[in-house]
Amino acid sequence: MKGLILAGGSGRRLRPLTHTSAKQLVPIANKPILHYVVEDLAGVGVTDLGIIVGDTAEEIRASVGDGSRWGASVTYIEQSAPLGLAHAVVEAGGFLGDEPFVMYLGDNMFEDSLEAVVEGFVEESRASARLLLSRVDDPGSFGVAELDDDGAICRLVEKPNDPRSDLALVGVYLFGPAIHEAVRSIEPSVRGELEITDAISWLLDRGDTVEHHLLEGWWIDTGKKDPLLECNRLVLDDVVLDVAGSVDEASVIEGMVAVEVGAEIASSTLVGPVVVAAGARIANSRVGPYVSVGADCVITEATVDHAVLMDSSRVTGGTHLSDSVLGRCSEVSGDGSTSLLLGDHSVVELGD
Ligand code: TTP
Repeated sequence: MKGLILAGGSGRRLRPLTHTSAKQLVPIANKPILHYVVEDLAGVGVTDLGIIVGDTAEEIRASVGDGSRWGASVTYIEQSAPLGLAHAVVEAGGFLGDEPFVMYLGDNMFEDSLEAVVEGFVEESRASARLLLSRVDDPGSFGVAELDDDGAICRLVEKPNDPRSDLALVGVYLFGPAIHEAVRSIEPSVRGELEITDAISWLLDRGDTVEHHLLEGWWIDTGKKDPLLECNRLVLDDVVLDVAGSVDEASVIEGMVAVEVGAEIASSTLVGPVVVAAGARIANSRVGPYVSVGADCVITEATVDHAVLMDSSRVTGGTHLSDSVLGRCSEVSGDGSTSLLLGDHSVVELGD
């Protein structure tokens, strides 16, 4: 089975961060989201991977490389324009051939391994697709699957006004070769995209079987700030105490904190879970809980909680920063409390 990872798209909901960088490379607990995705696929033996890329192709290639780090082999597929998930399948046709494949949205993260999801699809199933579903509180915001009396998927509805099911389609799909005819048969939706839900509905209308697997653990579409921070929180919950960097005697470490070699903590309190990457410097500050501090960040005379600080960002001079994502080399300073989503190289001065 091949893997198709979607890492193109527009990333409008994470602007301004996505003006200059790929949302799939935002670090969660200091590791890019896309690395978790490749790891997940390689973990279930899916190592022949195609990655759909768009405007941020260069950055994604530099970060993932040829995939050999994960025992995988990566082919990059440039999507001519971000015209929808089904459009990505059309453009990946040459790479996919007639093999069954897993399609994985490159900005989604899952608690569970994919093992139970892929089990038997290639060897035993005669279905044209297998969808991963998760129960959600607000089905009106998702593509939703309706089941018949036998528990089989009979209909998919995109963002229903009056949902008859709380089973949302999440970012992993398994397809057999029939999907290629489907993606070529549908028309663009009102938003001008070729929708994967329309392609799957086309298969259902034709009488094909579409199986499903119900997810038990958490799933997050990290494409917006709050879910991204929630994902950082969930992953940091598994951090273990590992202080390899330098921590002076005036500092206090509480709970699960990981400080990499080459990071320096002085006269500060770190309240876990917190991860601090190499080259970061924290002085006279309180950091945590739920903070990921990227490489070469500087935090001085500041308080930071529930945040992702990307590499080389700085928080200084009396700032209290919460619920924030800071792009690379961005800077927040001054006396005041705030919550921010900042693009790379942004500068914010608080106070008078
Ligand atoms: P989305 O988050 O649904 O779309 P988007 O990236 O365009 O974001 P926004 O709605 O905020 O503008 O996409 C899910 C994943 O699929 C994400 O990793 C981007 C990727 N994708 C493609 O590779 N090609 C596409 O044409 C689209 C629409 C998405």
